[in-house]
Amino acid sequence: MAEPGSIAERVKQQADIVRLVGDYVRLKKSGQNFLGLCPFHSEKTPSFAVHPVKQIYHCFGCGTGGDIFKFVMEMERVDFPEALRLVAEKAGVRLPEQRPRTPEEAKATQLRTALMELNKVAAQFFVEQLQQTREGKFVRDYLHDRGLTDEIIQTFGLGYAPGTGDALLRRLRERGAKQEILEASGLVNKDPSTSLGTGERGFYDRFRRRVIFPIANESGRIVAFGGRALGDDQPKYLNSPETPVYSKSRVLYNLHRGREALRRLDYAILVEGYLDCIAVFAGGLANVVASCGTSLTELQVRLLARSTKNVVVSFDPDTAGRAATERSLNLLLEQGFQVRVLSLPAGYDPDSFVRDKGGEAYREELKKSLPYLDYLVERARAEHDFRSQEGKIAALNYLLPYLARVPNKIRRAEWATELAARLQIEEALLREELRRAATERRGEMKLRPEHKQALEASAVKPAERRLLQILLENEEIRADVLKELEDDAAHRGASLEETFNQVLALARAGEPLTVERLAETIGEGERRRLFEMAFESGPAVAGSLEEARSCLAAMRRRKLEGELRQLQSDIQEAERAKQGDKLRELLARKQSLHKALGELS
Ligand code: CTP
Ligand code: MN
Repeated sequence: MAEPGSIAERVKQQADIVRLVGDYVRLKKSGQNFLGLCPFHSEKTPSFAVHPVKQIYHCFGCGTGGDIFKFVMEMERVDFPEALRLVAEKAGVRLPEQRPRTPEEAKATQLRTALMELNKVAAQFFVEQLQQTREGKFVRDYLHDRGLTDEIIQTFGLGYAPGTGDALLRRLRERGAKQEILEASGLVNKDPSTSLGTGERGFYDRFRRRVIFPIANESGRIVAFGGRALGDDQPKYLNSPETPVYSKSRVLYNLHRGREALRRLDYAILVEGYLDCIAVFAGGLANVVASCGTSLTELQVRLLARSTKNVVVSFDPDTAGRAATERSLNLLLEQGFQVRVLSLPAGYDPDSFVRDKGGEAYREELKKSLPYLDYLVERARAEHDFRSQEGKIAALNYLLPYLARVPNKIRRAEWATELAARLQIEEALLREELRRAATERRGEMKLRPEHKQALEASAVKPAERRLLQILLENEEIRADVLKELEDDAAHRGASLEETFNQVLALARAGEPLTVERLAETIGEGERRRLFEMAFESGPAVAGSLEEARSCLAAMRRRKLEGELRQLQSDIQEAERAKQGDKLRELLARKQSLHKALGELS
């Protein structure tokens, strides 16, 4: 990716990985490295390391790692060109006009840019309609009536889509929007009932007679709109469809505006609706986000996790809201969130509560919010009679799946103890049930990457690992060592075979050998070992030719011993099958293998 001499390489040299990563992760100096909590998996003790000299990062917990571009790609979920752009911007490097790599890519980027421009124009149009028209005056009254001040209306960029049917469409065309862009924007619909539905005619505004809520992505660009009907029109809410710039499952309403408060206060208030979100924000709590138009998704949870891992779920206290709460709990727990649940008095949603009682009262409710397990126990108590045996079992069945989802073993054990006391059942029994719940889930559980890597890693022999390290750290002897490695393919069948192959390939291509270069092309387990060794330091890491040769010898021995084992079983096979000629040939090979092994030691 970052070819030597390329723009990317230049950007990389001028960017400081510690500072850039520091924008996302709180880093502390630790020895020659920097350490912090990994942003890619949940953890309590820091295992995420940044190497300021090599300009690489690696998480010793989940195994991810790479250079600054990889980090930004994973963090912001963008492709390489976009990561390059972001890093260059932050590092203050001016990029020359970039020629996108393929015409398709160029076209996609162009379309996305055009769509966001179009959304901006549309948002302005909606605001104008709200603020400057007679029809809009009536809507402003409605919003004021719902407790929204002009300031809040402005902060959230609320607007109005008039009833005319094509007012926006005309505005967008005036501004030169092409038909193709209009159709991709989700702002206009094709009228199916008319034969004019082809070409430029037969289109009309998607949003009509609706209060408009612009929806921004995490960078604050408007990517979609939500529209609430006035009065009882159906549907109550109409949102933009999925477009090249909008996927509803990966946008959280107000995340951009709330970002700073989310990080500072280190918790989020999660609500369901636009108006809930706005009311809570207006009540003085800026750290609020809404999932809007979808039940919470894993992508949204991951998005939120970049700002905080603590959340108070504040959904409607009705049946639908409770179901949504329980679904969300599962997702949040799996992503390692600390979750509390706020249950408002019946009949209230956050919006109406704040409007009726004020932001201060909502703040009090927040303080009274329950840790999610307490909330669930309360829910179980409401549904089942804890005094009866059947009731206890039913409650336990309801609760166990949640408990089994808590990723942290210690916390899970604490909760189990707590739960046993609440339900007044034997703790041992509960633990037994918990274990069973865990094993019964196993059928559908994948082997977790950590486990897989742990297994793979344990198979790596010290000699291989050390040889790779010397190759990476000691440029002077590299060519000699590689020649000897290649001559008899000592790495064949080794556990780091893929890595060594890649090292050889880079050398043959005359390319520089760096950790991040290698990491791009090798599998997960080997990559993890590679990063681990890159973070080792000390006067002796560079090694010597002599040491490299002894590593090579150990690897050759291991390879020959492997061949010998294979040969032995072939010999037995040939004996059983009475294949005399073959047997003689195999025995001769065995003898020469023995000789080669003897010479090695
Ligand atoms: N929603 C939706 N489509 C619907 C109903 C709801 O997308 N047909 C989404 C909207 O994002 C809405 C949220 O779900 O904000 C919550 O719905 P609801 O509680 O019905 O609306 P409120 O936000 O309470 O709106 P209001 O107070 O104006 O009734
Ligand atoms: Mn409401």
